[in-house]
Amino acid sequence: MTGSIANSEAGMGRTILVGLLLLLGCKAWAGADSCFDCHRVMEGMSLKFTNDIHFSNAISCAGCHGGDPRESDQNIAMSASRGFKLRVQRRDIPEFCGNCHSDTNFMGKYQPQLRVDQLSQYTNSVHGQRLAAGRKRAAECVDCHGVHNTRAVSDPLSTASSQRISQTCAKCHAATAEAFADTRHAKAFKTERKPGCTVCHASHATKSATVAMLAGSTSVCTPCHRPGSKPAKLAEEMAQFLTGLEAAGSGSKEALARARVAVHSMSLDALKQAAEPVSASPDPDEK
Ligand code: HEC
Ligand code: HEC
Ligand code: HEC
Ligand code: HEC
Ligand code: HEC
Ligand code: HEC
Ligand code: HEC
Repeated sequence: MTGSIANSEAGMGRTILVGLLLLLGCKAWAGADSCFDCHRVMEGMSLKFTNDIHFSNAISCAGCHGGDPRESDQNIAMSASRGFKLRVQRRDIPEFCGNCHSDTNFMGKYQPQLRVDQLSQYTNSVHGQRLAAGRKRAAECVDCHGVHNTRAVSDPLSTASSQRISQTCAKCHAATAEAFADTRHAKAFKTERKPGCTVCHASHATKSATVAMLAGSTSVCTPCHRPGSKPAKLAEEMAQFLTGLEAAGSGSKEALARARVAVHSMSLDALKQAAEPVSASPDPDEK
């Protein structure tokens, strides 16, 4: 692409863009934004970006990627000397997002009530620890919030909204999500607008799952089911059963893994069935 073609395309893009913004009544974008213009023409990507929460807060491409949005020559606009950051690696994304999101002063200018502890919670979570240890598939910010189409979490279309978060976890925890899908929990949580998986696992502070989640003072059931109630008793029985499998050692490792998935159906029978020996047992979850 020569500079002049790029310029005329960018100019055309800007005309279309201004029309589009007037159409949408959007006031967020002001001044030159060569990044937006050129990339819009290149891949149509900036169009979906107009729904992004960052764009509606006047944070455009250069806000995250750096570079110089007043410069229409791509070699200058996207040069290190103008602060352009090289390709963002997956394991660097938490810091990349956290840079703004853990800055109280910066975020306070936009939405003072918004929490700023996502990065610190995430860093200590099972996802954060595994990602740092080189487990590429461990969830990072973009897996749950999307990129270039990120929305407020209260927006039902957000991949992290209470309506959609379980589907988002299911991208990587398919078998677990399936065990959960048809339960009374899944139905009740939907009606009550409770956020599915994160009711018990949190979103940024997800910990390794253990039987401690089922019984005693660390039970995640207690906020909703009184000690001594039928569900609380079931939780204790499930914990006992899983502890038994754990004690049986490496011989029942596969059975234990299947039973931990079956916990989500909240039935002791389902747990016992899952622990039965099977001939071929592919790993239920994504590796
Ligand atoms: C909120 C921060 C943020 C904003 C704003 C943003 N990006 Fe990105 N962008 C990212 C992240 C993070 C990645 C890496 C995504 C990944 O690896 O999954 C990325 C990746 C990319 C890529 C690499 C190809 C790809 O799709 O993975 C291009 C090109 C890109 N962005 C261009 C743009 C343009 C153009 C804009 C403005 C229209 C923009 N970005 C706005 C965060 C942002
Ligand atoms: C005149 C057109 C043009 C302008 C202006 C422009 N870009 Fe690009 N951009 C490109 C092209 C072409 C590529 C390379 C695409 C490829 O290699 O697949 C690219 C690649 C990128 C990438 C991916 C780079 C990577 O590491 O893989 C990002 C992110 C990006 N641009 C962001 C920006 C930002 C931010 C600005 C404004 C400061 C900007 N662009 C301005 C045309 C442009
Ligand atoms: C495993 C999925 C997941 C990951 C990974 C994740 N989030 Fe979230 N995020 C959520 C969910 C779900 C919510 C909705 C509110 C809640 O449950 O805390 C949320 C809420 C938010 C909010 C709104 C304010 C708040 O805390 O409620 C921001 C901002 C945010 N996340 C940023 C981030 C950043 C930055 C990262 C990476 C460091 C990240 N998130 C990683 C799922 C995730
Ligand atoms: C340049 C600073 C900056 C960067 C970098 C940044 N954000 Fe944001 N983000 C903001 C601002 C400002 C808002 C608007 C606050 C508001 O009204 O919600 C916001 C809003 C959000 C929200 C909506 C919170 C809500 O209201 O529910 C999410 C989710 C979010 N960002 C995730 C991310 C993710 C994921 C990344 C990394 C890919 C990222 N952000 C990178 C500044 C940034
Ligand atoms: C009612 C509470 C509850 C809900 C809702 C819930 N979980 Fe769990 N989850 C648990 C408990 C308890 C364990 C611990 C089992 C053990 O290790 O003893 C667990 C274990 C896990 C594990 C480790 C075992 C496995 O399945 O691989 C993953 C991953 C997991 N949950 C993901 C999810 C996902 C994804 C969702 C939503 C589809 C979800 N959970 C919904 C309570 C819950
Ligand atoms: C991009 C993929 C991905 C997404 C999306 C994802 N996770 Fe994970 N999750 C992983 C990986 C990888 C691990 C580490 C598994 C391991 O090392 O055994 C993990 C681990 C876990 C564990 C600990 C499991 C254990 O054995 O103790 C829980 C609980 C969990 N995730 C819950 C969730 C919940 C809830 C969501 C949605 C809010 C979610 N995950 C979204 C990939 C993902
Ligand atoms: C956020 C609240 C909440 C949490 C946390 C929760 N539950 Fe529930 N649970 C419910 C609701 C609401 C119902 C009722 C569904 C209905 O009536 O159809 C229910 C129903 C059940 C039932 C079916 C009850 C019956 O009489 O057949 C069982 C079993 C159960 N839960 C077990 C558990 C266990 C075990 C845990 C902890 C691992 C747990 N629940 C955590 C809200 C919760």
